[in-house]
Amino acid sequence: MKKYEVVRTILGERWNTAPHYTIKTAFAPTNIALCKYWGKRDEELNLPLTSSLSISLGNKGTNTELKISGKHEDEIYFNGGLMANDSPFSQRLLEFIDLFRYEHIPRFSIHTNSNIPLAAGLASSACGFASIVLALDGLFDWQLSQDELSILARLGSGSACRSLWQGFVHWHAGIRSDGMDSHGESLRARWPELCLGLLIFSEAEKAIPSRIAMQRTITTSALYQAWPSKVSRDLAAIKQAIANRDFQLLGKSAESNAMTMHATMLSAWPPIVYAIPETLLAMQRIWELRGDGLQIYFTQDAGPNLKLLFLQRDIENVLANFPGVEIIQPFAMD
Ligand code: DP6
Repeated sequence: MKKYEVVRTILGERWNTAPHYTIKTAFAPTNIALCKYWGKRDEELNLPLTSSLSISLGNKGTNTELKISGKHEDEIYFNGGLMANDSPFSQRLLEFIDLFRYEHIPRFSIHTNSNIPLAAGLASSACGFASIVLALDGLFDWQLSQDELSILARLGSGSACRSLWQGFVHWHAGIRSDGMDSHGESLRARWPELCLGLLIFSEAEKAIPSRIAMQRTITTSALYQAWPSKVSRDLAAIKQAIANRDFQLLGKSAESNAMTMHATMLSAWPPIVYAIPETLLAMQRIWELRGDGLQIYFTQDAGPNLKLLFLQRDIENVLANFPGVEIIQPFAMD
């Protein structure tokens, strides 16, 4: 099945109708997976081989303004700067927006503003696509359900289907070939004391995009066959940890899940290593601190940066050990 067929199925009668407004803005938070999505059963629709679970980062994310323009070409601005329409960033975005309009009509002026580093393994594409879907839904007044919006966001980037909600989100892998059962679900649980820390070592664009890395891992890594059962165990443990507010279980399961994902990449050919020396030094420091009794864990995505996991009571201690860390309290907003 092709992406545009999914879009037409979801929009039904609303497909190819005129926009209702001339301008709409929408925000979506970025999300960090505690149990990772790594591997697809369908490359076209970004259907995953396994379910995953994430936490959204409150006001860290992307704001997208979609405006109908009378011009002949779309215009894309990222953080205020005009992007060339043939840049990889613009092409990926326009390809996605083209799924929702007829022969490039209408033309848009698109302003996307993000307060997280682009492509540094901080899931910037996730909140980007989720905010575009929300802005389109507003502009055309489709009034789609959260699940439908999640399915549409997935067509842009898999992890985007988890950025439609704040808090903990479970992305169900689903079994259908059209992916209508593969979308996020909010766990609704709150954990006010939970903190994340962004340890940014590099804002450089990743050397290998995650979709290429996933593909290479599945096709060449001998360790990948162990991944689905590892995910089932970690997912169950993380859900239990959230329900019981068992921080040690949450931290251990999330860190071990990330390490296992990276182990599958290390054993791919050619090998994929996202860590840089700073990443490994920080990991060693975290393990040392944990040995000294501090409850601190980490997770790592397709980039060198780490995301720390700890509780509010340890903020001072974490700041003392990692002076550059940016602390996020995902439940502080509500
Ligand atoms: C390591 O969602 O960026 O961050 O579906 O190909 O766009 P595509 O991949 P993407 O992959 C995210 C991978 C990850 C793990 C995760 O977020 O679950």
